[in-house]
Amino acid sequence: MQLPPQLCHAIALETAQHNLQSLTQAATELSENYRSQRPTSGMFMATAAHRLAYIAVRMPATFAAVHAVFTEIRRLMPERRITSLLDLGAGPGTAAWAALDVFDEVQQITLVEQEEGWIRTGKSLARTGKNVLLAHADWVHANVRAVASFPAHDLVVSSYALGELAPKVAREIVQMAWAAARTAVVIIEPGTMRGFELIRVLRDDLIALGGHVLAPCPHQDACPMPANDWCHFAQRFARSALHRRLKTGTLGYEDEKFSYIVASKHLSKPVSARVMRHPLRHAGHTRIRLCTGDGLQTITVTRSDNEHWQRARKIAWGDQWP
Ligand SMILES: C[S@@+](CC[C@H](N)C(=O)[O-])C[C@H]1O[C@@H](n2cnc3c(N)ncnc32)[C@H](O)[C@@H]1O
Repeated sequence: MQLPPQLCHAIALETAQHNLQSLTQAATELSENYRSQRPTSGMFMATAAHRLAYIAVRMPATFAAVHAVFTEIRRLMPERRITSLLDLGAGPGTAAWAALDVFDEVQQITLVEQEEGWIRTGKSLARTGKNVLLAHADWVHANVRAVASFPAHDLVVSSYALGELAPKVAREIVQMAWAAARTAVVIIEPGTMRGFELIRVLRDDLIALGGHVLAPCPHQDACPMPANDWCHFAQRFARSALHRRLKTGTLGYEDEKFSYIVASKHLSKPVSARVMRHPLRHAGHTRIRLCTGDGLQTITVTRSDNEHWQRARKIAWGDQWP
């Protein structure tokens, strides 16, 4: 996946104002903060350099994950029009950029963000990237914990933000998100054990609130994932030259791992099964790890299975099966 050209251009212009050495240092600190879960000065992104490093290094990755989830929503609910979006913990507006790429019909965007610096960066990216809707969106400077309720929107999303809150608080925010959503609530977290732990709890809460799990699960039952494993997916995205320099790598792409849950207000037909790992392809057979209505299963599709063989050759991690 490629970032929209206007967003690439805007990121390049924003980051060009800063010297490369301090950006590289900020990018290293960011990775260390997230890896250790120990923020600098009480915040994961304390300085302007951290925010610029984030838009250069992390925003393309979080954009890729959010875009993949929104694309799945469009695929599974093609009849639903998403005209408004509420983003909780918006940072530079990543989810809104992805929403505008997937849902042409979006008219109204509200972004709640606790850091004024992020709102400035988000507005500046939108202006530079000529994203008129986002530049004129309703940017709300607030701590989500201090808000009594959120205004109603079709889609309510929180990407890579709730994990920064205590789990009890994250659960309260998701209750409020559910109350505000007309169509669906989307929660995305890093594809780690810790990220998935939160997603699993929030999935149970959303089901208890009356939510219909749209993705990724093929059912509403208890999650069958064992304690030593975690449900996550990967989205590949192209790396810019700056991204490669700041993360000192040479590969032209990176795979962003993420865990997510989409709970819909509307009853919808779940996928029959979801592919949970890269399929293992051999000469005459393919092994596919699936989450199904009957729990986790590994199936083997052989060349002699005319009905499924072609599909099995092409299927990818995260796809629906068959
Ligand atoms: C890792 S960034 C993710 C930004 C963006 N959602 C993305 O996917 O790229 C987390 C964002 O959540 C914001 N955030 C964390 N706790 C918050 C709170 N209690 N209220 C509002 N925003 C919050 C942070 O300031 C930061 O901008």
